[in-house]
Amino acid sequence: MVELHDQTLRDAHQSILATRMRTEDMLPIAEKMDEIGFWSMEVWGGATFDVPIRFLNEDPWKRMRDLKAAMPNTKMQMLERAMNIVAYWNFPDDVVRRFVGLAKKNGVDYFRIFDALNDMRNIEVPIKAVLEEGAHAQGCISYTISPVHTIERYVDDLLKLESWGCQSVCIKDMAGMISPKFADGIIRGYKDAGGKAPIDLHSHYTSGMTGLSYWAACEAGVDILDTSMSPISGGTGGAATESVVAALQGTKYDTGYDLAKLIEIRKYFMEIWHKYRHLIRQEAMKVDPSVMVHQIPGGMLSNLVSQLEMQKASDKFYLVLDETAKVREELGFPPLVTPTSQVVGVQAVMNVLFGRYEKIPKETIDYCKGMYGKSPGPIDPKIMEKVLGPNWKDEVIDCRAADLVPKDMWDVRKAELAEKAPSIDMTDENIMTYTLFPEVGLKFLLGEAIPEFTSDELPLNKDHPMTRAFVKSFFPELPDVYIETEPPEARQVAGPAPIPTEFNVEVDGEFFEVKVEPTGGYVTSSGGAAAPAGGGPDPNAPGMQKTGMQGNLWKLTAKVGDKVKKGDVVAILEVMKMESNVESDWDGEVKELFVAEGDMLETGAVMMRIE
Ligand code: CO
Repeated sequence: MVELHDQTLRDAHQSILATRMRTEDMLPIAEKMDEIGFWSMEVWGGATFDVPIRFLNEDPWKRMRDLKAAMPNTKMQMLERAMNIVAYWNFPDDVVRRFVGLAKKNGVDYFRIFDALNDMRNIEVPIKAVLEEGAHAQGCISYTISPVHTIERYVDDLLKLESWGCQSVCIKDMAGMISPKFADGIIRGYKDAGGKAPIDLHSHYTSGMTGLSYWAACEAGVDILDTSMSPISGGTGGAATESVVAALQGTKYDTGYDLAKLIEIRKYFMEIWHKYRHLIRQEAMKVDPSVMVHQIPGGMLSNLVSQLEMQKASDKFYLVLDETAKVREELGFPPLVTPTSQVVGVQAVMNVLFGRYEKIPKETIDYCKGMYGKSPGPIDPKIMEKVLGPNWKDEVIDCRAADLVPKDMWDVRKAELAEKAPSIDMTDENIMTYTLFPEVGLKFLLGEAIPEFTSDELPLNKDHPMTRAFVKSFFPELPDVYIETEPPEARQVAGPAPIPTEFNVEVDGEFFEVKVEPTGGYVTSSGGAAAPAGGGPDPNAPGMQKTGMQGNLWKLTAKVGDKVKKGDVVAILEVMKMESNVESDWDGEVKELFVAEGDMLETGAVMMRIE
């Protein structure tokens, strides 16, 4: 018998519906899903912590408690990103342990733990914390294809996870690339080497091979397969639960689940699908076997496209694809999953635009130092020298990056929260929300988060708090989805609420904060270089320091009166979540600043005058 791990309430809507499914859409069907007898259900973790506080004005802790109460007979599972927990950066050990304890207390039974680089040091602490809580730890390997990712290596890692006490293990194929041969090889290899813990295969439909690979996995002795209810499956999502149940009926792998009951549940999710139809990208629903050639997962591909669009270099797309493969090899073949997909992708874009490793974002430097963990293969020494300098060997850390995070983070954040939000309850859950996401979390805890619209509310009234730019990002083909009654000028003068120019671009539930000019370009947040031309400094005059790329001005490292030399870092831009230095083109003294921190700067925008 094979059992299924249903992903509908986490991975499925994160992959296809931008993680936007609300708790109110989950609870009405929970009782029926609880009756199926799934091995477990993934309902929490990944982006389902970040998105509810950011976009839905929903408390993730309450969601977890409500789901647990509604499904008392099914094991509730969460996806835990090792030392990043449910965020995108490292936390100290005690915060990881506290989080695990709180998650368990709020209803999580099973913890699936993975690290993007398969650095076993990064997943040891969360696994031990789960075991100390008396919960179920499922240790994962992140699947990718490269000369250093051999079946033997995966089997060794799985056996190590089991030896640490993991009650089950998992092959996490987040990009949907696993072929029948590799599924068979790893599962059989693990069992033949004496692996006893139940083994779970997680995949996505991206390459179109999942059905075949699942069958090969069954034949190799897989214990658990990951699936999602059919209305939220396929494409970049997973395999359909009902289809897998039907396919295995009458075989020795039969799940024994009630197919008629599953079809009832299907009807319900067809309705939910409609509620979020504005989020569905047709391309995401298509099978894309090209992932097998360039190995770039779908989410990362669309991210590369949007980065190139922002840099006005869409014609360089195929060059960037080739460069991505090259950079990935030079950096020791990291699996292309957040955050390493960002490191590789942005470096590839910069290499194509400015010359190979001429511009190096801070994240590439951190990666080479080992701040994300140990690279799977060795990093090319020539690249190490380019990125970290001639003494690069001294720059590399030999401990976990989490060891370098301030140890008192919990107490510091707790004190900050008490000061910034004296009115809120200082529960451990609230302190944890703030610790994980200080900015977004605080806004949520203060009751300032605004729930986003659903398809049922379209078209939006012009007074709806969602920005025009945000709506436009979902409907690029439409001139305007608002009901417009006044000219924009009138709104700008009379409107009490300014139209925000910041919004989030997201790819598979990962966020990149971006500032935009709303449709029509009649509003800028702070003037600066994003303002329409006219009256600004002459960009071609001598001494004018310009940006090399479009990005958000994160930090000005030179101020008026500072003496700078050609090549000195005068500012740091944030380009799609990555830091990028602006180096001075001139020797001299900074005489005048035309921009302020926080400004959105176009490529070639004049930042300062150096004389
Ligand atoms: Co997944």
